[in-house]
Amino acid sequence: MCIEKENKDFKNPIEYKLEKKDGNARAGVIQTPHGEIKTPVFMPVGTQATVKAMTREELEEINSQIILGNTYHLYLRPGDDLVNDFGGLHKFMRWDKPILTDSGGFQVFSLGDLRKIKEEGVHFRSHLDGSKHFLSPEKSISIQNNLGSDIMMVLDECPPGLSTREYLIPSIERTTRWAKRCIEANRNKDKQGLFAIVQGGIYEDLRDKSFEELYEHDYGFAGYALGGLAVGEPREDMYRILKYSTPKLPENKPRYLMGVGEPVDMLEAVEHGIDMMDCVQPTRIGRHGTVFTKYGRLVIKNAIYSRDDRPLDEGCDCYACKNYTRAYIRHLFKAGEILGQRLATYHNLYFLLKLMDNAREAIIDGRFKEYKEEVLKNYAMGKE
Ligand code: GUN
Ligand code: ZN
Repeated sequence: MCIEKENKDFKNPIEYKLEKKDGNARAGVIQTPHGEIKTPVFMPVGTQATVKAMTREELEEINSQIILGNTYHLYLRPGDDLVNDFGGLHKFMRWDKPILTDSGGFQVFSLGDLRKIKEEGVHFRSHLDGSKHFLSPEKSISIQNNLGSDIMMVLDECPPGLSTREYLIPSIERTTRWAKRCIEANRNKDKQGLFAIVQGGIYEDLRDKSFEELYEHDYGFAGYALGGLAVGEPREDMYRILKYSTPKLPENKPRYLMGVGEPVDMLEAVEHGIDMMDCVQPTRIGRHGTVFTKYGRLVIKNAIYSRDDRPLDEGCDCYACKNYTRAYIRHLFKAGEILGQRLATYHNLYFLLKLMDNAREAIIDGRFKEYKEEVLKNYAMGKE
């Protein structure tokens, strides 16, 4: 276990308080400049300064405690300087609860041939108009400082899930050097916390290497993320790394698993001590008419729902489920009506937020394992 290191330069604006452990699962509270977050927590993704199809009031209604924004997208459009002129992302989008921004690394690295990695940073072409840009650790932090998020992420390289050790070793070392440059570049240390991102693919020893190198600079980090998971590696590999790496992260700081939002994976992550997760999945599949239910996923366009008068998920008490039938929502999708997408998005986010609220309660009551088993048993039935 890690010993807290002395914080010489500044007081971190993000603080984590562990409330209860049940096995390795944790219930806690994260304090941020825009209020507290009860964990474990799912964070809806608002890439372009909006959680697609959801108003601020609806996000509040479903009890979203924190949302994500993205450096890459907001830098390209509308531009971080414009957002800064409006007083930052919170004011621009009228969201006054916590915001976390990803560094842009993941998006830039997803561009494939459109980017080139150098020690200094990454050269890339915009997916919007092909224009040339350069993202360095300093630039990523400068953009995130302009956006004014509560939690910023270091610029990292997220290698494909099945990268070789030979590829990963120099990549990890560069990610560490970039992380250190991010700490130094932060001109808003008392208001914006910075999270490190542990990489290392599916290799235990490389995960250790990445964490240990980053931990040398622990004073500069408000939390730790596990990156480079759910990026094409088999699920067993992801679970093995989660189980191995999560408990080794510092107890006194939040732990964030990046890019995971499938109910089964989320509970696995919580079991091993993850506190925060995000994923575009619930909103994306919702817009395409797939919803989560207690008994697994349901594809609402299927003909069997055309006369189904039940709600999307019979156990759910969200606005969509309290007011509308499967038959009606199916009709909306078939007719290409925008309300269908809004209701499915609303329900999916509600479902994951509730899953985490219930997990938190189960941890506090010391019955997380039973809770997880019960949820998984039903979810695997797939008999909506
Ligand atoms: N989102 C999902 N995985 C990752 C990752 O490894 N790095 C970053 N920056 N964002 C992510
Ligand atoms: Zn619902």
